[in-house]
Amino acid sequence: MLFDRYGRPFQKLRYVVNDECNYNCVFCHFEGQLRRQGSYLTAEDYGFVSSFFRSLGVADFKITGGEPLLRRDIDLIVANVAKTGAYVTVTTNGYLLRGWVDKLRKAGVARLNVSVHTTDPEKYAKITNTSPAVFREVMRGLAEARDRGLSLKLNVVVLRDINTDRQSVKELVKLAARLGASLQFIELMPTGSGTKIFDNLFEPIESIVEIVTQLGGRPIGVRKELHNRPLYLVGGVVVELIKNFNNSHFCAGCTTMRLTSDGKLKTCIYADDAVDLLPYIKSRDVEGLLYSVRLALAKRQPKFKFYSSS
Ligand code: 5AD
Repeated sequence: MLFDRYGRPFQKLRYVVNDECNYNCVFCHFEGQLRRQGSYLTAEDYGFVSSFFRSLGVADFKITGGEPLLRRDIDLIVANVAKTGAYVTVTTNGYLLRGWVDKLRKAGVARLNVSVHTTDPEKYAKITNTSPAVFREVMRGLAEARDRGLSLKLNVVVLRDINTDRQSVKELVKLAARLGASLQFIELMPTGSGTKIFDNLFEPIESIVEIVTQLGGRPIGVRKELHNRPLYLVGGVVVELIKNFNNSHFCAGCTTMRLTSDGKLKTCIYADDAVDLLPYIKSRDVEGLLYSVRLALAKRQPKFKFYSSS
């Protein structure tokens, strides 16, 4: 296993497989890709590079975008990553899910993270710049995934006065319970479009913790292997609470990097610097890759410092 200069192990990787999306969410961080870069990696490339990362001890891959289900070869990508024996999840807005459920299951996806920020179709349409009919299609996709036995997690970006009241949280817990899903609340990050709405819509995760507690939730542990995220159990649903803003514990527990759609290894969503892996991936150059990954790890800095260099 490889470590960065802060002693953080490199165990997880996000693949940003494209930068197109059929939504236009008001808060989108674009996974740190602030302009259109295009998609350069094939399903075969993802298979090759995943075997390489597996050999370094990376065992958990998250496929994201853009909207990954817009890639016609998404099932092949998942299959090629899963073939390495790694844990593979896909993060999606869910709109195209219904058509993909079976193929993704067969490809070996371990879990789907579906972004559902509210159970109110009108609010959903506003946040995502879509329509209430889109919300209903996402619900059909989720039901189909559940019926096919896929493991589900709902992602909720916390937005002040949109989903931070007791009733909204309760409805999300109920939806998760119906789907046999876990639920994760993510603090708004001030990057991408998130920067523009941050002052108006940021609400600290503590407000959600309070509501979860009022609803009878109790703490059941901490995800030490990722960002030290607290876990609660409420109404039979596991709730993960992600306090990422201004939180040095979050950065201290960060074990992940990103491979952008144009093949750059990005050390942090907020970081501008990245190491270009594309030539090494295309030429199947394992030594070049290893050198580049070490370089990226040497550059890695926690955005919110847990360590002061006096
Ligand atoms: N802050 C927090 N979460 C965000 N997401 C997108 N933009 C932001 C932001 N600015 C969420 C998506 C998806 C996950 C990958 O990140 O909704 O659930």
